[in-house]
Amino acid sequence: MTSNKTADFKSSLQFDFLDTPTNKVLGAENYGDFQKRLRESNCQRCPELLEGRTHIVVDRGNPAAQIVAIGEAPGENEDEQGKAFVGRAGQLLDKIMESVGINTNKDMLIVNVVKCRPPANRPPKPQEAVSCLPYLHWQLKKVNPKLIILLGATAAKHLVPNIKEGGMRERVGQFFDSADFPGVKFLILYHPAYLLRDPRKKVEMWEHVKLLRKWLDETKTAAIPGAACLAGRQAGE
Ligand code: URA
Repeated sequence: MTSNKTADFKSSLQFDFLDTPTNKVLGAENYGDFQKRLRESNCQRCPELLEGRTHIVVDRGNPAAQIVAIGEAPGENEDEQGKAFVGRAGQLLDKIMESVGINTNKDMLIVNVVKCRPPANRPPKPQEAVSCLPYLHWQLKKVNPKLIILLGATAAKHLVPNIKEGGMRERVGQFFDSADFPGVKFLILYHPAYLLRDPRKKVEMWEHVKLLRKWLDETKTAAIPGAACLAGRQAGE
């Protein structure tokens, strides 16, 4: 990890003591409380995102799941509905996961690096990602998943501090560990929006999700058809 990246990562874990709305959200006692506080926070950390925002998009799916998938930022549909991955990319993600027995609403929690829609769906600026990361880190700590799926380059860049520029291509479809999240497996997959732009990549994606299915079976991680392990995990706790 380079020193700049370390500083980025560390600063994402800290927050301004005077930023009361953020502190209030991060002080939530359970996941349900966090969802409510963040949605109602009127977070003002990113002026450009604040301007066009309809909803702060916290997530979609099951906070008690053992898999968390991380995307980039909400798009138009997500901003309108206040739910992550409900547009075309989300529908494709649902289909892909369903093809290997994963129900995205039951077996996964889906979140984004940035919780507000960037103008014209541009990628989030580095400062926007850094400003929003405390919320994502709170979610990951509370959900404590067995597996984090990074959907696309933005999620990879912000969650894997030592990944090289272009490193996404080398690591996609592979499982790995991260010193920042001991005990959690990571897997980088293509972002579904990328597959919509270049459907030829679906062939590779299919190979990657077959590996995902194999890993879930080998580690007895909850996801239908072997859903037994969901028992005992309480949503919102
Ligand atoms: N793309 C993302 O990265 N996140 C969403 O929520 C929707 C589309």
